[in-house]
Amino acid sequence: MTKTQQQTWSQRFESALHPTIARFNASINFDIELIEYDLTGSLAHTKMLAKCEIISTEEGERLVAGLEQIRREYREGNFNPDVDSEDVHFAVEHRLVEIVGDVGKKLHTGRSRNDQVGTDTRLYLREQIQQIRQLLREFQAVLVDIAEKNVETLIPGYTHLQRAQPLSLAHHLLAYFQMSQRDWERLGDVYKRVNISPLGCGALAGTTFPIDRHYSAQLLNFDKVYDNSLDGVSDRDFAIEFLNAASLIMVHLSRLSEEVILWSSEEFGFVTLKDSCATGSSIMPQKKNPDVPELVRGKTGRVFGHLQAMLVMMKGLPLAYNKDLQEDKEGLFDGVNTVKACLSAMTILLGEGLEFRNQRLAEAVAEDFSNATDVADYLAARGVPFREAYNLVGKVVKTSIAAGKLLKDLTLEEWKQLHPKFDKDIYEAILPRQVVAARNSYGGTGFEQVNQALQIARSQINK
Ligand code: ARG
Repeated sequence: MTKTQQQTWSQRFESALHPTIARFNASINFDIELIEYDLTGSLAHTKMLAKCEIISTEEGERLVAGLEQIRREYREGNFNPDVDSEDVHFAVEHRLVEIVGDVGKKLHTGRSRNDQVGTDTRLYLREQIQQIRQLLREFQAVLVDIAEKNVETLIPGYTHLQRAQPLSLAHHLLAYFQMSQRDWERLGDVYKRVNISPLGCGALAGTTFPIDRHYSAQLLNFDKVYDNSLDGVSDRDFAIEFLNAASLIMVHLSRLSEEVILWSSEEFGFVTLKDSCATGSSIMPQKKNPDVPELVRGKTGRVFGHLQAMLVMMKGLPLAYNKDLQEDKEGLFDGVNTVKACLSAMTILLGEGLEFRNQRLAEAVAEDFSNATDVADYLAARGVPFREAYNLVGKVVKTSIAAGKLLKDLTLEEWKQLHPKFDKDIYEAILPRQVVAARNSYGGTGFEQVNQALQIARSQINK
């Protein structure tokens, strides 16, 4: 048996773990990510033990000094525990005993690695959620900046990826603002359930020591404590909820990515990618590839995968802690890192990596039948039942396509032949700009609506 194992496991064990099994069992390679939170949790636990007179003030001070030294060593790159330590919790405890001597062995009084790892993970996720919310704000700010400059820039709007009705580009971008606003709010809601302390739940049943869980929770800025110790050590709902929120962020980023990829194609030609955010091909010299949005779209799957993995990992677990739960970390960490990386990349891409081709956009909205609804609305507003007007315009579109004409090319005479209610103001009504402006219903693409939406968006991000 190695020295390390003797120190941590009881004398019940007579022989050492098989080296392959030791590696299989260990989480130190990835849970080292939690070390700062582990130290913070242990500091709070120590202070609580001293306050409750479970250890003396002097012992408490020595433990605190030792833990702080480990933090310094880690930050300076001088604390690199290996697989012998199994996990970050043992690694810290062993080092503490090396530094402060036998009193270090008192650190684990009244707690278990089960409540400890739950505490660490929540402290970690709490901080990450705050960082991701900040990144969402930066992403939103770029969306609003571009939208503000493009209220009157028109872009074809699609349903079924078929030209439908023209839009204000700002309105289109603000749809993504709304999605990210929900993401931001959703993370705030998840945060409430992350910010609950399991510390002091012990292995599963609480502890025989007169600990004060509320005090340690307060030191760690948790909103409250888990009310049931079994639930406290084995609940991972908060991580699943986070991965769900992260998956939705990725859905939104991926949809936007898909649009940017389409827009940058020769066929659409709505945006040009700048050199800082596009890559070339190793063989085709003419290529400029949208790697950034493609990677975002591609990485989306792994975050969904982590959510799925966590759900499946949890579904068969009897109460309370089971080692399966060690599997919660890599997916969670990767989910966090992926979302952060994708948000940062998309913010840069939007902010400085692409340019809308306004001329091309203007041509696009002028050269189609996306004003057909407005012709029907024109008649309907003059008393013709909408369905009748709709059928009539369908016929006009058919004959115009056959004649190679657009609606704007019809003569007033032709309009009047179609229906006596048509007059020369039909030409104004079907101008793309007017078609957009006229959709002034609440939440619509009309410029007035978009300007109001922009104002609200600005005030939301400044909150
Ligand atoms: N490394 C473990 C994990 O990540 C820590 C908790 C271990 N608890 C135990 N009873 N083996 O879940």
